[in-house]
Amino acid sequence: MDYLWISFLIALLISATVEASHCAANEVPIVRNISEIGQDSYGRHGLSHITIAGSVMHGFKEVEVWLQTFAPGVGTPIHRHSCEEIFVVLKGSGTLYLASNSHKNYPGSPQEFPIFANSTFHVPVNDAHQVRNTDEQEDLQFLVIISRPPVKV
Ligand SMILES: *[C@@H]1O[C@H](CO)[C@@H](O)[C@H](O)[C@H]1NC(C)=O
Ligand SMILES: *[C@@H]1O[C@H](CO)[C@@H](O)[C@H](O)[C@H]1NC(C)=O
Repeated sequence: MDYLWISFLIALLISATVEASHCAANEVPIVRNISEIGQDSYGRHGLSHITIAGSVMHGFKEVEVWLQTFAPGVGTPIHRHSCEEIFVVLKGSGTLYLASNSHKNYPGSPQEFPIFANSTFHVPVNDAHQVRNTDEQEDLQFLVIISRPPVKV
């Protein structure tokens, strides 16, 4: 587990907790302009993270939605969590590295899947995975929909 990624998730929870004190779910406007929602890199170079719908931040109970943008060459570390996770790629391209639970005998060789704009992919619960922008020019941007928040890594 990458130290920076743990810091990112902790920072996310802390900032979410701070906001939660003055922002209950029923106070979230029905329609919001994504351009006016704050973004943060949580100290990770080349990452832009926007919590569109947060459990702690906004009080959503069943799902959490993030908009993430990764600069060329940037990605998440390898990690896993006990929730369903669905991605919708809006821009750019990259690679999903997925080490399925059913391939435990070969932990060193995850499967590689090319991802592209207008593609969608999901990560099975508890499968180790990494998403990386493997394009040299264009940003990779996707929506992440996560079940049963807050995320337990
Ligand atoms: C959304 O916010 C951006 C940035 O403030 C602004 O340029 C844009 O006009 C807004 N869109 C609408 C429909 O208000
Ligand atoms: C994404 O796919 C849908 C369904 O085929 C299509 O309607 C839409 O135009 C596509 N969007 C882009 C940006 O390619």
